[in-house]
Amino acid sequence: MTFVIGAACVDVMDRACVDECPADCIYVGERMAYINPAECIDCSACEPVCPVEAITTEEDVAPEEAVFVTENARFFTEALPGRTEPLGAPGGAAAVGPLGVDTPFIQNYTAP
Ligand code: F3S
Repeated sequence: MTFVIGAACVDVMDRACVDECPADCIYVGERMAYINPAECIDCSACEPVCPVEAITTEEDVAPEEAVFVTENARFFTEALPGRTEPLGAPGGAAAVGPLGVDTPFIQNYTAP
């Protein structure tokens, strides 16, 4: 299991979750933040602090937001736009800093 950030985060990106995460596994993109599934320790600390309730467990993601499970993972497993290597599991978001980029899907995302 892992926690996933969904559509409600896009263009809000409050970042309360980033401050709360004891594993430092929530990475900041341009339009939203992404939970690294390889680093998430499933503690649930992030879930209640998001003011727009964007965070759920992978299992509880609504069917219409299933793509966000893929996109949270893709942010780390595929090279982001303008980069040649995937981010992978760098071991902490604070040291990496805001990435300023999203997956191509999120770059072009418009809420239904
Ligand atoms: Fe986004 Fe909510 Fe975190 S808006 S950055 S998931 S606190």
